[in-house]
Amino acid sequence: MEMEAQENTVQQKLSGNNMIEMIKVSRSYPPDIQALKDISFSVETGEMFFLIGRSGAGKTTLLKLICNMEMPTNGLIEVAGYNINSLKGKDLALLRQRIGVAYQDFKLLNDRTVAENIAIAMEVSYKKQRAIKQRVRDLLDQLQLTSKHDLLTGELSRGEQQRVTLARSVANSPRLILVDEPTGNLDSTTTEKVMDLLTRSNKAGATIVIATHDASIYENSNKRIMELRDGMIHSLVRGNTI
Ligand SMILES: Nc1ncnc2c1ncn2[C@@H]1O[C@H](COP(=O)(O)OP(=O)(O)OP(=O)(O)O)[C@@H](O)[C@H]1O
Ligand SMILES: [Mg+2]
Repeated sequence: MEMEAQENTVQQKLSGNNMIEMIKVSRSYPPDIQALKDISFSVETGEMFFLIGRSGAGKTTLLKLICNMEMPTNGLIEVAGYNINSLKGKDLALLRQRIGVAYQDFKLLNDRTVAENIAIAMEVSYKKQRAIKQRVRDLLDQLQLTSKHDLLTGELSRGEQQRVTLARSVANSPRLILVDEPTGNLDSTTTEKVMDLLTRSNKAGATIVIATHDASIYENSNKRIMELRDGMIHSLVRGNTI
């Protein structure tokens, strides 16, 4: 009962106005690297939002702060209305279950199969085995990986590993999806498949933040695009205007 009440609150907050709110956030690393400086912005619930900037600008650091993989040195980060750095235990676990992350360096389990890697996200939230199997098949079909179902992820090309990472991040239909450089190793046809999948998840209600170097995926969109430069916000514009 208590668990249910808790889940209801998380659910309510997840449908509030802003999915992400950052106020004056900085992150430094020793000895004196300022990866992010004084970042304030918000992402609305249901938005697809692009994060761009040169290598080293701070994109990955920003995504890691949003999912609580790293802590800010200063500032406030709210996700779904919760201060993500003060959440603990069950509350944090529940919120994390609703965030899908596709890491730039994949973080796949290389001694498990493609299907097992994708299923993991769904197993932690106690989905039925039959539903999991179906979802894994659908995602592999959409990403043209059907024949890779039973391969170990360590046996795949980088472009294939990248798509498995993406499939894992969306598998459990999270409310927030963070994707770091999702098309870096892909040709244009496969890039389109990846973007179709993300667009579909977005239309189904997920808020999506995409960090990328690949102008082809945002230059013709009407989505908001934030450019980081040396850890600071250089510009924040709606697409089609740059
Ligand atoms: N754990 C760490 N320790 C020290 N410095 C770090 C750490 N993580 C990131 N940095 C530094 O912070 C800065 C921002 O790095 P980040 O990975 O966020 O950039 P990025 O925009 O994602 O770059 P890329 O486009 O190459 O992925 C870089 O100067 C990087 O060297
Ligand atoms: Mg990066």
